[in-house]
Amino acid sequence: MNIYIKSIGEVDCACDALILPFTEGNSVLYDKLGSTTSKLIKKLFSKEFHGKQNEVLLVPAPQDIKPERILLVGLGKKDEISREKVRQAGGKAAVYLRDMGMKRIALSTSVLSSLKMSPADFIEGSLLGLYTFKRYVEEKNKKGIDSILVLSKVSKDLKDNIHWTKVITSSVSFARDLINTPANDMTPAHLANAALSLKQKNLTVRVLEKKDAEKLGMGSYLSVARGSKEPPKFIVLKYKGAKRAPLALIGKSITFDSGGISLKPAEGMEEMKYDMAGGAAVLGILKAVSELKLPVNLVGILPATENLIGGSATKPGDVVRAVNGKTVEIINTDAEGRLVVADAIGYCKRFKPWAIIDIATLTGACSIALGNEAIAMMGNDRGLINKIKKSADKTYERVWEMPLFDEYKEYLKSDIADIKNHAGKNGALVTSAYFLLEFAGQVPWVHLDIAGTAWIKKEKPYMPKGASGIGIRLMLNLLKELK
Ligand code: BES
Ligand code: MN
Ligand code: ZN
Repeated sequence: MNIYIKSIGEVDCACDALILPFTEGNSVLYDKLGSTTSKLIKKLFSKEFHGKQNEVLLVPAPQDIKPERILLVGLGKKDEISREKVRQAGGKAAVYLRDMGMKRIALSTSVLSSLKMSPADFIEGSLLGLYTFKRYVEEKNKKGIDSILVLSKVSKDLKDNIHWTKVITSSVSFARDLINTPANDMTPAHLANAALSLKQKNLTVRVLEKKDAEKLGMGSYLSVARGSKEPPKFIVLKYKGAKRAPLALIGKSITFDSGGISLKPAEGMEEMKYDMAGGAAVLGILKAVSELKLPVNLVGILPATENLIGGSATKPGDVVRAVNGKTVEIINTDAEGRLVVADAIGYCKRFKPWAIIDIATLTGACSIALGNEAIAMMGNDRGLINKIKKSADKTYERVWEMPLFDEYKEYLKSDIADIKNHAGKNGALVTSAYFLLEFAGQVPWVHLDIAGTAWIKKEKPYMPKGASGIGIRLMLNLLKELK
């Protein structure tokens, strides 16, 4: 899809539909559209439309202006306006127009500018909302918007912001595609190929095979792969856009989580294809960063494997040795995420990162605590935590900090090994993170549990059902400000 910026008036814009954003109760915002259109709008405001958040109304345009139709879209109360509300209106408007069969649409920006809001946020919502996943359906959806024309003065700022938005949203779509793809097609090898497809001058990709992982002593990671016939792939990406020490980004990449011998119940198990959403987010982040050529240094790690049952699968009670030498007693084979992330943390220290951030669909307890509204965040570095909170406010990929009290150490004590992988239901969200802390040690580290936010069960204005692609906008905004 094409996005253009053009400095022409609304009345002169030939298009299938012109989007006019309104705040609640304010009909007199578009007087320059001429008296016929103004009268029409005032009439609509008395009954059919009010400007409430995400309200839409499509009407034929009067003859004396060039747009064929007008879509009124509500932003809600003027003094409650926010970037998120603009994003949602953008998603709602674009999806509505697509479903109505519109091809060429235009956005009036005068009200957004008067509210000091950027049209780029509206476009971000549109592009995120228009995502569809049609890989497995015969009849591809013919409906699709061809172009969005942004009616505005052309400025470097706006051009840059829209470019940023296009790159980020296409990375989100890239990640959503990987996550939505079922596990028979999204194996560790497929995920490795997706990573390899990102290779660039500044971005190298290396895939460690099972025998490499064995040589390195990644017994924790490999213990998860034992029940599967699909070979595990430990994927390492490096992006070099600056000279300083790298930031390590680790993404949990279980391409299917059956629970292993500690088998999950059948109901809902099909959703466990999204257990690689953290890995997909890391790939999306690296894709965007390399396209935007950000001046940062990154290492991305995806410890990819399936977690299945079989004659050689890891059994509850088994003890394995992680890459850092620590022994782990595996109480529950369904607590596999921390086992693969722990070895990724241990491994990434060879790159001397200034900080480590892991993104993982780690616990069911995450959604029990926070529902589907926030990422659970835990870490050992106040500065980094605060930076992530700021980025969360900006992107609405919200985070909520949970504690890592020293007392949780007790919970993970094993009778026969250095640590156990499961402390029971009590505090399951925080003890999973505490397990990772034991591997991060003193290195600044933040854990983001996206189990509650990576999958959309009920669609939202710019989130179709299925993979949300969460984590990419959050991290890119952080990286933009880190420099
Ligand atoms: N991948 C799951 C967590 C999960 C559950 C993600 C639901 C998304 C939706 C993880 O590997 C897991 O199975 N966690 C267990 C851990 C428990 C056995 C300690 C859980 O949370 O139930
Ligand atoms: Mn599991
Ligand atoms: Zn899992």
